[in-house]
Amino acid sequence: MTRILFVCLGNICRSPLVEAVAREEFARAGVAAEFASAGTGDYHVGHAADPRTIASAAAHGYDVSAHRARQLDVADFAHFDAVLGMDQANLRNIQAVCPAQYASRTGLFLAYAGVAAPLDVPDPYFGGADGFERVIELARAGVHGLIARCANDA
Ligand code: 4NP
Repeated sequence: MTRILFVCLGNICRSPLVEAVAREEFARAGVAAEFASAGTGDYHVGHAADPRTIASAAAHGYDVSAHRARQLDVADFAHFDAVLGMDQANLRNIQAVCPAQYASRTGLFLAYAGVAAPLDVPDPYFGGADGFERVIELARAGVHGLIARCANDA
C-alpha cells in the first residue's frame, strides 16, 4: 500500500488533517508513500482548509496551509491503493461511486488505528477546538497503524 487517499465530506477538516499527519509521520519513520485527500461533497472545492484545521495542525507541527479542497473522482480508485473514509457515512458515499473492480481498495481509516468501534473520526466542523484535537489524536493512531502496515509491505 503506497498510495493512500483520505476521504471525508468537505475535505476541509478531517481528511486534510490526516493527510498532513501522514506526510509528516511517514517522513519521520522513513517510510515512502504518496498521500492525498478529497471530499465526497463539492461544497468547498478549491477552498483552503478550515482555519481551525490549519491552527490545530500548526499547534502540533503539521502543515495544512497549502491544501485546497477537491472532490473525490472516479479516477482516484484506479490510482490509489487505498481510499479510506473518515467515517461510515463517508465510506458508504465512497462505495456508491467506486467501480466494482476496486471495491477492495475502500475502507475505514480507523481500521488501522487499534481503537474500539465505532471506527468514525467525529466531524469537528460544527463543534469547538476540542473536536480538532480529537481528530489529531485519532489521526496519529491511524497513521501509526498505516506506517506499520506499509513498512511490513515493503
Ligand atoms: P470535513 O468537515 O468533512 O471533515 O471536511 C466538514 C466540512 C464542511 C461541512 C461538513 C463537514 N459542510 O457541511 O460544509
